[in-house]
Amino acid sequence: MPGPMPHPRAPETFRVKSFGCQMNVYDGERMSELLGAKGLRAASDGEEADLVVLNTCHIREKAAEKVYSDIGRLAKAGGENPPMIAVAGCVAQAEGEEIMARAPAVGLVVGPQAYHRLPEMIDRAVRGERPADTDMPANAKFAALPARRRSGPTAFLTVQEGCDKFCTYCVVPYTRGAEISRPFNDLLREAETLVEAGAREITLLGQNVNAWRNDAIGFDDLIRELAKLPELQRIRYTTSHPNDVTDGLIRAHAEVEKLMPFLHLPVQSGSDRVLKAMNRSHTALSYLKVLERYRAARPDIALSGDFIVGFPGETEAEFEETLRLVDAVGYAQAFSFKYSPRPGTPAASMDGQIAPEVMDERLQRLQAALNRDQLAFNRASLGKRCQVLVERRGKLPGQWLGKSPWLQSVHFEGEAGIGDLVAVELTQAGPNSMHGQLLETVAT
Ligand code: 5AD
Ligand code: SF4
Repeated sequence: MPGPMPHPRAPETFRVKSFGCQMNVYDGERMSELLGAKGLRAASDGEEADLVVLNTCHIREKAAEKVYSDIGRLAKAGGENPPMIAVAGCVAQAEGEEIMARAPAVGLVVGPQAYHRLPEMIDRAVRGERPADTDMPANAKFAALPARRRSGPTAFLTVQEGCDKFCTYCVVPYTRGAEISRPFNDLLREAETLVEAGAREITLLGQNVNAWRNDAIGFDDLIRELAKLPELQRIRYTTSHPNDVTDGLIRAHAEVEKLMPFLHLPVQSGSDRVLKAMNRSHTALSYLKVLERYRAARPDIALSGDFIVGFPGETEAEFEETLRLVDAVGYAQAFSFKYSPRPGTPAASMDGQIAPEVMDERLQRLQAALNRDQLAFNRASLGKRCQVLVERRGKLPGQWLGKSPWLQSVHFEGEAGIGDLVAVELTQAGPNSMHGQLLETVAT
């Protein structure tokens, strides 16, 4: 193995590669803005960047292995002149020291709560140091980031970070730290600048987004305040926890027109025994009751969830309880995963780890049920008239692509532009998208 590689040349171009969740996408954008403010230029497609930031995800399978293979590829691709490699995100947080020791090609390691220090860390790496920063000072990063200047029609806004729930399978409480809520005024300001920069839809992000709170100001108050921004047309939020759902938030779905009829509410399992072993602190029934309250407030709400199959000790009968819960809900879409032991989490050392072929088989059956329900939801939308926020051009000439209020991808042809809110009638339903007939432009 060669020794640590100093980088005598300051990087002029960069590329940020984000993996995993939407919060990583948000963090990736903010890191890009930070590097832009430092005078670096984003490498264009196909161009080799002087600095590559791997913004990693640690939540499921083989996360670290993937990072090592990416590092290996980057180090080799550069030949004599390899890029400076920065490892950021949750793998950096969880395994920073090991990465430094195992991968000499890595110039710096920065955790998700410390990336505001990236510019100064790059300078240190140029001087031949190998800085690693995985501190977790609450909220410090946001105050130190440059103001937002650019936005497409849809934007993410992190309002809450971290998690205190300690589900027994999950690394998030260790990689993202304790639950913190960003201050209301900061969020209002960031939302205003995003809207000025062109955002028409904002998705509020947090590992437990509905746990956001500033003293007496609750998450629903935040939504109501943001809805007052005249040019903002749509508000979404993700991910919610069933235990943090309030009456006020449910009422907001009935009262705030800009709040979209969509809810991502992970359940993980339909078995109360498994839920308890997962430390989920809700039951299948209490979860279903939360959904009922949402549906009472907003009957057309589209429901989404997360599932884990093959949690240690999960029996066939317990897995079937998950299938029954799926049947009872009728999800518009959902994410399902095979359980993956995460180092340091309680479930990783539990008895009864499930064989891979059993997990595969359960995942297939679950996904078949979820796909069936997704198609059924899309078919039930046929004939509906709704607004679509145009996000980009479609594959075919004259075609546009956007999202319905229920987060379906909709393509349509006609006069439109990116950022327009247009009215369409939904005329064809596929498993993953809808086709629409343009009716008129509603607002821009
Ligand atoms: N194994 C499999 N899936 C997991 N998730 C979180 N941790 C694990 C794990 N160890 C899933 C959960 C969560 C989503 C973001 O990722 O379903 O809601
Ligand atoms: Fe992980 Fe559970 Fe927290 Fe979600 S609620 S981030 S699954 S510990």
